[in-house]
Amino acid sequence: MDDVLVKVKHLTKKFGSLLVLDDISFDVKKGEFLCVVGPTGCGKTTFLNSLTHLYEATSGEILINDEPVDLQKHNIAYIFQEYSTMPWLTVEQNIRFGLETKKLPEADIRERAENAMAMVGLEAYRNYYPAQLSASMLQRVVIARAFAVEPMLLLMDEPYGQLDLDLRFRLEDELIALWKKTKTTVIFITHNIEEAVYLGENILILTNKPTTIKTKIHNDLPRPRDIASPDFVKLRNEVTELIKWW
Ligand SMILES: Nc1ncnc2c1ncn2[C@@H]1O[C@H](COP(=O)(O)OP(=O)(O)O)[C@@H](O)[C@H]1O
Ligand SMILES: [Mg+2]
Repeated sequence: MDDVLVKVKHLTKKFGSLLVLDDISFDVKKGEFLCVVGPTGCGKTTFLNSLTHLYEATSGEILINDEPVDLQKHNIAYIFQEYSTMPWLTVEQNIRFGLETKKLPEADIRERAENAMAMVGLEAYRNYYPAQLSASMLQRVVIARAFAVEPMLLLMDEPYGQLDLDLRFRLEDELIALWKKTKTTVIFITHNIEEAVYLGENILILTNKPTTIKTKIHNDLPRPRDIASPDFVKLRNEVTELIKWW
């Protein structure tokens, strides 16, 4: 089916005798915003690392447009759970970095870098180095850098977990605006149920290790979503009931 972007087929990942991902299969459609929720240690990061070939799968495979994932060919941005700015580059240079490696024209690089910096409110900090920034500002650099490359697939591993609430809400809304504008496919990992219900078109719920898919929920609440609305609260409670990892 050509509306599928990512196809996960019988993915199994073991570390020695520890079985983490146990025969996982699911599809992500083009343009989908998928949230993946699962308890700590169930293998969410392992899944993204397997997708991007940082880890090799024990068995099974992950395909993009029916081909094995190829980071040269497939424009994938990965926002790691740990911050990963380049300390020897300024904010602006960090954001430009991925664009320069793609050899885009300078005018495009400048425009995209400016837009990305404006989006996360870092214009005044463009000449700062990572060591001069707070943790939440570093995370904004990382997010701006990922958005700037206009990826076909954006992987986000609990990106807003460390941020204060106001900033988290703002970045969530900006992420949705960007997703709507670009129709980028997003796989967003979180263990925050409210965040998953706020963001996701679909929510994939994982079990404890050995990890399988408990269920996938379709979420068609209208946007912008209101976390206090009865429908939102109802769905959040349903997801919470389904999770029961404890
Ligand atoms: N490189 C590794 N070597 C050995 N065990 C690992 C490695 N990476 C992850 N694990 C183990 O795999 C499990 C899943 O880890 P992880 O994917 O980080 O979970 P999550 O992101 O869902 O919190 C954990 O038990 C973790 O200890
Ligand atoms: Mg993780």
